[in-house]
Amino acid sequence: MLKKIAFAVAVSASAGAYAADNVEVLHWWTSGGEAAALNVLKDDLSGNGVTWQDMPVAGGGGEGAMTVLRARVTANNAPTAAQMLGFDIQDWGAQGSAADLNSVAQAENWDAVVPSALQRFSKYDGQWIAAPVNVHSTNWVWANKKIFDELGLAMPLNFDQLIDALDAIKAAGYTAFAHGGQAWQDATVFDSVVLSTGGVDFYRQSMIDLDAEALGSDTMKTVFERMGKLASYVDDNFSGRDWNLASAMVINNEAGIQIMGDWAKGEFLNAGKVPGQDFMCFRFPGTAGAVTFNSDQFVMFKVGDDRQKAQGEMAKAVLSPGFQSAFNVVKGSVPARTDVSDADFDDCGKKGMRDLADANANGTLLGSMAHGHAAPAAVKNAVYDVVTAHFNGEYSAEDAVAELVAAVSDAQ
Ligand code: BGC
Repeated sequence: MLKKIAFAVAVSASAGAYAADNVEVLHWWTSGGEAAALNVLKDDLSGNGVTWQDMPVAGGGGEGAMTVLRARVTANNAPTAAQMLGFDIQDWGAQGSAADLNSVAQAENWDAVVPSALQRFSKYDGQWIAAPVNVHSTNWVWANKKIFDELGLAMPLNFDQLIDALDAIKAAGYTAFAHGGQAWQDATVFDSVVLSTGGVDFYRQSMIDLDAEALGSDTMKTVFERMGKLASYVDDNFSGRDWNLASAMVINNEAGIQIMGDWAKGEFLNAGKVPGQDFMCFRFPGTAGAVTFNSDQFVMFKVGDDRQKAQGEMAKAVLSPGFQSAFNVVKGSVPARTDVSDADFDDCGKKGMRDLADANANGTLLGSMAHGHAAPAAVKNAVYDVVTAHFNGEYSAEDAVAELVAAVSDAQ
């Protein structure tokens, strides 16, 4: 009997300690490369005495994760933190269940080191509610070096050169364009094609200002024609394929290129591939000088007093300079602070950091529509629907333009 009581006391004491030091984190980092990056965070936190409770919900762009999050908060069971993008963060700020991170932010001087393009999303009503972990960008191409060398292909500099390269790769018997037919992946390609076809001002007018004239323009018709052209280079099994399996096709010498954000680099690195030797990274042809970015941030939720210490530790750890370097080297993204050295980054990462700083200085840093940084979720989802229906042959380019104008207007 005595023994039993002692056991019960020991269990409840350790359960209490576990809850206090524990962070439950909702995220969509489920691929091999993403899991490797997540391990950097878990290890960093465990070094600070914080244990990790995993809440993964697969799906790039985070649509699935956001659905689960809403259910959790409605059930009064918010996680400690949730991975989140751009406008979604603002929605949670307005909703009122996000924690106040101002004291950590002040102690750690976040105002001075986090780029204003990110702070615009991390703060709601002047209050820090999220800790940015990285900056990704979507206007990248990931190319198989062996195939490019074998076919004597140079890096394409404009859309026509890209098509020439895809033709050559296809003629040689490879899948030219490794792609996964999921709405968010189609939309990720769309980010690049809009920017390449219309330039920075057109991207801003159509995707960020949601200007009806730009959305309904001849330029947008060309965008859809180009999307249709790209769709002709995917393989028969593309529908529904996860993005990391498309990366694997390039990694395994089955396909020439993938058009994807720089989280794809995490997959190449995780497979032991080396940039410049096994694969190449370059900006989507016609988009050099501009960056369509998205930043993963951890929104912290209001939790009981007992869990606030661990939550604060996590917020602090996420933005520490050492962690920002170690994590982003593995993830494929670049730091969310302006004062981190690029010494540990590979050539693609160094280029990513340079491109981000230049775009920020030159006014060519643009929020990604596909990844929640151009417009609120309702508009983003409306764009997804039209882009994906067109990519799958349901609309002509002309019809897609008309559908886009109508869908974006209805969603606002
Ligand atoms: C996130 C990345 C993630 C990718 C694929 C994007 O929305 O920003 O961190 O790797 O989705 O899951």
